[in-house]
Amino acid sequence: MMQEYIFLLGKNRPLSVSEITMYYRHRNWNLDLTMISENAALVKSDNIPDANVLGGTIKIIKISEMFEKFDPYMIDVSKDVGRGGEKAVFGMSVYGKSKSWLMKNKNEIQILQKNIKDILKKEGLKSRFINFKGEVSPVHLSRKDIIDIVLFFRGDLLYVGSTCSFNNPLEFKKRDENKPVTVSTIGIPIRLAKIMLNLAGVKENTRIMDPFCGTGIILQEAVLMDASIIGSDIDSKMVLSTKRNLNWVIEEYGLKRYNFTDSLFVSDASEISGLIKEKVDAIVTEPYFGPALKKISSPKTAKHMLNKNIQLYDSIIKEFARVIKRDGYVCIVVPSYRTKTKNVHMNFRKIFTRHGFEEAKVREGLEQPFREEKKTLTREMFLLRKL
Ligand SMILES: C[S@@+](CC[C@H](N)C(=O)[O-])C[C@H]1O[C@@H](n2cnc3c(N)ncnc32)[C@H](O)[C@@H]1O
Repeated sequence: MMQEYIFLLGKNRPLSVSEITMYYRHRNWNLDLTMISENAALVKSDNIPDANVLGGTIKIIKISEMFEKFDPYMIDVSKDVGRGGEKAVFGMSVYGKSKSWLMKNKNEIQILQKNIKDILKKEGLKSRFINFKGEVSPVHLSRKDIIDIVLFFRGDLLYVGSTCSFNNPLEFKKRDENKPVTVSTIGIPIRLAKIMLNLAGVKENTRIMDPFCGTGIILQEAVLMDASIIGSDIDSKMVLSTKRNLNWVIEEYGLKRYNFTDSLFVSDASEISGLIKEKVDAIVTEPYFGPALKKISSPKTAKHMLNKNIQLYDSIIKEFARVIKRDGYVCIVVPSYRTKTKNVHMNFRKIFTRHGFEEAKVREGLEQPFREEKKTLTREMFLLRKL
């Protein structure tokens, strides 16, 4: 039987599922994915990525056993979760049960933990459990060497396993806070940049372009994936910021040195094709749309903003069609405007169809655009394939 895993997903479930789906498809890995709760997917596959390469997965749990019901005496998880050396530190995470269930079953959890310790003791191995708080967070896992035993309830059915990979939030924080140039008003979250890159199939040696590179967050994540990057921005200060940030990432992560002279330059994205000598495999970008993403008061103002953007999007998609290979993917953020009365969108489908792109079919039931809602802004994303 194929190994089963549970992927605990980030807040944006459709985006996380799309990312996993495309990550597997771009590698021709087999994937059988079933949603088993609001925020968890059961994955059967021969291949499993490191959760750190995904932007939308928090933990990956390797399932070792399934039970019809929870019984602390029945579960001999110790044999499955590895022994963790001479003096193992265990943690326990329970998903799919309410806080009140956890309160009511505190004793049972303790019994289960004691059973595990006793079994290990008989084998001459020392172990201890950290205080049970319902869940061992990825931050906790990043800081200490803990074996995280997971009980995942799906109704009465219980999956038992252990975390085999998790998304280390401290690394994201380090990149966000320590890189030389940050412009908070234009920066895209690292998590989202990663998701976009994975949707577009960026991996080792992919030639990927971001023609609105800003401070270079998308490119920085692409460099960490060993992709070959091309970045540009209309503003020379931004190109310089990207250069500084990329050099920092390379230094910090001990990556092979790049010479950016030919791959980072100043250009208006709507004239980029003249500067691209060799076609690219993927384009991942968050263009500039001025104050567009802020909440604006009237649908009339929104329409006015949209009309300006239609021209920009039409000219850049036309340029993208010239510089991308056939079957190459574009992952792009598109403006949408929230007004007091309604949401106003541009007819982006009309634009990309005109220039020879189609919407990538990711998965039944996951319709585009993907949306990322925040208090004051909505990001809409499209994944396109060049015909
Ligand atoms: C939303 S920011 C991109 C932010 C970037 N994703 C990051 O994480 O830093 C948009 C960038 O587009 C640039 N820009 C605006 N109009 C442009 C154009 N016509 N061509 C190229 N770049 C442009 C701006 O200078 C700005 O740096």
